[in-house]
This record gives sequence, C-alpha cells and structure tokens, in this order.
Amino acid sequence: MTVGLLGAMVEEIEPLLEYFKNYEVIKYADNEFYLADYNGHKIVIAYSKIGKVHAALTAATMIEKFKIEALLFSGVAGAIDENLHIGDLIVASALCQHDLDITAFGHPYGYVPEGKVCYESDDSLRELAQRVAKENNVDLKEGIIATGDQFIADEKKKEWIKKAFNASAIEMEGASVAVVAHSLKVPFLVIRSISDAAGMDAGFDFDEFLKTSAKVSALFLTDILDKLIAKS
Ligand code: ADE
Repeated sequence: MTVGLLGAMVEEIEPLLEYFKNYEVIKYADNEFYLADYNGHKIVIAYSKIGKVHAALTAATMIEKFKIEALLFSGVAGAIDENLHIGDLIVASALCQHDLDITAFGHPYGYVPEGKVCYESDDSLRELAQRVAKENNVDLKEGIIATGDQFIADEKKKEWIKKAFNASAIEMEGASVAVVAHSLKVPFLVIRSISDAAGMDAGFDFDEFLKTSAKVSALFLTDILDKLIAKS
C-alpha cells in the first residue's frame, strides 16, 4: 500500500527520514517529498511548513499526486488538558479549527455552512494506535485537538479554546489535514507529543522540547505504520 507520513516542521520528520534511510526526493508544489520503499510498500514523507494552508496543500498533494491510501500525521502540540505533560502522546479523536469564526452570523465557533465543527479521525486507525500503545506499554491519551494559525502562549486564550471546543491539545495543522483527508475520503490519523503547556513559558518550552517530543511522536508513528502495512 502507499502511506503518507506528514509533519509540519523539518524537526518533525527528521526521525522518520533517519528511520527509512534511503529515499528518493521529488520536488513539487514548492516542497520536497521523500519517497521510500519499505518492505514492498511505498511511503511518502513530507513536512508541510507551519500552519493550516501549508498543511492542507501538502495533504492534498500527497493524496492527489502521490496517491496515498492512508495519511498519518506526526508532530508536537501544546497541552490544554492538565493531565498532559511534556513528552506525552495524544491521538486526536477529532479535530476542530479554533480560529474559524463567523459567529457574527449566528454560527458556532469553528463552523462554516456545509462543514463541521469537528472532523473525527478514522476509527480503525485510532483503534490501531491504541492497540499499538497497549502492546508497547505506551500511555496514549485520546482527545479533541484544536487547530489554528496561532502559536498559543497565553493562559486566557488556552482556557477559552478548552471551553469552546472541549479540546485536550492545541497545534497549527491537524484540523486542516482532517478536512482535506475527509473530503478526499482517505483515512487519516493525527498523533502529537506534548512540547509545551500553551501558557506563558510555551515559547521557551517549545524550543527546548521540539526535537525530543517530535521524535517520541515519529517513532510511535512507525510502530503504527508497521501494524498498518502488516494488515494490508
Ligand atoms: N504546537 C506546539 N505547541 C503549540 C502551541 N502552544 N500553540 C500552537 N501550536 C503548538
């Protein structure tokens, strides 16, 4: 099968490139796509650059040009749930856009007509992630991830997002990938490891823990990938 592995920043895919070692590089749409052969399966790896637009473009490119059949996103996130600590793993049950706002027209936050506030991850991929976690003794949390084109380093804003979306973690790409994958009918999963708590110290913590947390997420993703292709 053909599987897409996507991150937002180069640090989020570096552990994947190290893991697969040999890959072909294809330049397309102002980006680079790394194609690896993995036990007869095709793996397409890329980092999108930060934010919803870049992530949506890269997800759509992976699906339309590289014909991926499943999309696994790996990266870091800010914790909203106080039970999530630096290095912890979370799988998105669903993803929403916290910065999408046409409430002036009576709609809820995160909603536009003909869309949905929350886009659920693929059930079987989510269950697979939980099974892999159990087998590897990994404490994998599950919850709603809120996405927006803002790095959150503010307690008040964080509390607002928690209340408005019942979110457990926050990042800047997941929900846009979810909209693209859902629309193009490709099963997707978003895994994140915590890099900061989205409060006053978030910028410092992010810089300090980006690489280590990104690696935790990426290596867990390769375990999921192994089980996914074994099933195919
Ligand atoms: N990704 C990691 N930490 C984040 C934060 N605090 N806000 C938005 N995206 C993030």
